[in-house]
Amino acid sequence: MTQIQHVLVSKADLEQRVRELGAEISRDYEGKELVLVGILKGAAVFMSDLMREITFPVGIDYMSVSSYGNSSTSSGVVTIKHDIDTDIRGKHVLLVEDLIDTGLTLQHLQQLFLMREAASVRICTILSKPSRRLVDVPIDYCGIEIPDEFVVGYGLDYAEQFRNLPEVWVVKTGE
Ligand code: IMP
Ligand code: MG
Repeated sequence: MTQIQHVLVSKADLEQRVRELGAEISRDYEGKELVLVGILKGAAVFMSDLMREITFPVGIDYMSVSSYGNSSTSSGVVTIKHDIDTDIRGKHVLLVEDLIDTGLTLQHLQQLFLMREAASVRICTILSKPSRRLVDVPIDYCGIEIPDEFVVGYGLDYAEQFRNLPEVWVVKTGE
């Protein structure tokens, strides 16, 4: 039985950080051609909030990757299930993620977009678990650092459940 336990990050705290990140990104990329690339499905909620905090027109695209297979620990192998359809050559790409855990997924995607000749590739995540990092991936825009707990809500799931919770919750998994 999977149960949500307690709220780790409130709706108000999420909203405030998204506003701050949007303002920072708007300042940094003013006058540049920026494409936000959201990593599905988890980043869908954050992406739709973030894009509305950016003060100039941006390109929007999505990618779906799987890095975990069926286990809950990262294999380090990233498979692209759905790719973007924007030509990002010469454009500034900002990868938008729900949570950076080991860092393996984002490290792989950053390399991929650099190989595709984006003008720059930066990383934005609403949540980060620094204590879980296996590779040193630079997070240019980091929302909120959280401890090593399994969380759901604000786009994040456990077995495809709980993505629609407006807050970030800790779950207890087990029989
Ligand atoms: P990593 O940084 O390559 O290890 O992958 C991070 C991805 O794993 C996130 O984007 C989530 O989709 C998933 N993930 C990691 N920790 C959690 C969690 O606590 N809850 C839900 N998904 C998680
Ligand atoms: Mg994800």
